[in-house]
Amino acid sequence: METVVINDVGPRDGLQNDPTAVSPDDRVRLINALVAAGLPAVEVVSFVSPKAVPKMAGADQVVAQLDLDAADFSALIPNMKGYELAKASGIRSVGVVLSATETMNQKNINMSLDKTISVCRDIVTQAKADGLTPRAYVSVAVECPYEGLVPDSQIESLAEIMFAAGAAEVIVADTIGGANPAQIKALFTRLVTAFGANVLSAHFHDTRALALANAWQALECGIRKFDASISGLGGCPFAPGAAGNLATEDLVSLLHQAGFHTGIDSKALVDVVDLAAELVQHNVGGRSLAWQRNQLAKTDSKGVAA
Ligand code: COA
Ligand code: ZN
Repeated sequence: METVVINDVGPRDGLQNDPTAVSPDDRVRLINALVAAGLPAVEVVSFVSPKAVPKMAGADQVVAQLDLDAADFSALIPNMKGYELAKASGIRSVGVVLSATETMNQKNINMSLDKTISVCRDIVTQAKADGLTPRAYVSVAVECPYEGLVPDSQIESLAEIMFAAGAAEVIVADTIGGANPAQIKALFTRLVTAFGANVLSAHFHDTRALALANAWQALECGIRKFDASISGLGGCPFAPGAAGNLATEDLVSLLHQAGFHTGIDSKALVDVVDLAAELVQHNVGGRSLAWQRNQLAKTDSKGVAA
């Protein structure tokens, strides 16, 4: 069985955009429940301005309560200040954010594209020197809400810059959920040829109900690492029209049905969906959830269901 690694970004990408503010203690509960369900990686916080993203306040309090050996925990960071805060928290993996267009960088982190490239390069270099694992998001990778379609060549050249600086991985993010599988095939075929599949990860949003189809296409291109968000929580506050992320439970269901190994316990994952709903105080969940609950009821928790 081939293994696919899922990084749950719900505690960061999910909660940053939810109307409900979830306390650091409750975010820790959610993260620990994800790890207990078998998630090998979780993006737990972002070290960003609390004025820009109030829901991520208390990131250091979240990290302080985690058993850092329990999973591959990472933090998203927008600038050197965020990096310093992340390093001080003890987290071992950081993700810089490089949007593919000029306007998206301005809207998201108030920097030009050139400035963002140089800041990301400096952070990646510093993180590597400090013994942390640096990753790089290349976001709005197919379509930007401000500038429209983004050429694949732009994504390749930004990824190239991040790898050259020492990034261990580039996460290609369809931040607004604008991509279709034909575009994903073209983009990932190009990137896999240039860099190899094992240093790439894919991040999809489900705005047009194509996230799962896009994930399958990326898988066909050889990608074996994905971001997904428990219950499909998520969206970027600075990217108008972006809906939730690909739901972790939907991706796990697809992968298990197709014969891939994830190490994730489907029943425990469905219980985490309930916890997420309790924390954000509204109903959440991926599209396969009702079916999964039905299967689990039938199999009496023996874990046959996808
Ligand atoms: N963490 C916490 N605080 C930060 C910070 C960080 N990484 N970077 C800057 N700040 C603080 C500064 O200390 C300053 O505080 P003060 O007003 O109390 O003096 C304030 O934020 C403004 O700093 P400045 O450098 O002028 O930043 P800015 O106003 O140009 O905002 C960002 C830039 C990057 C800090 C802000 O846009 C941001 O945090 N964006 C996050 C976007 C995001 O998370 N998007 C979703 C994920 S892709
Ligand atoms: Zn996202």
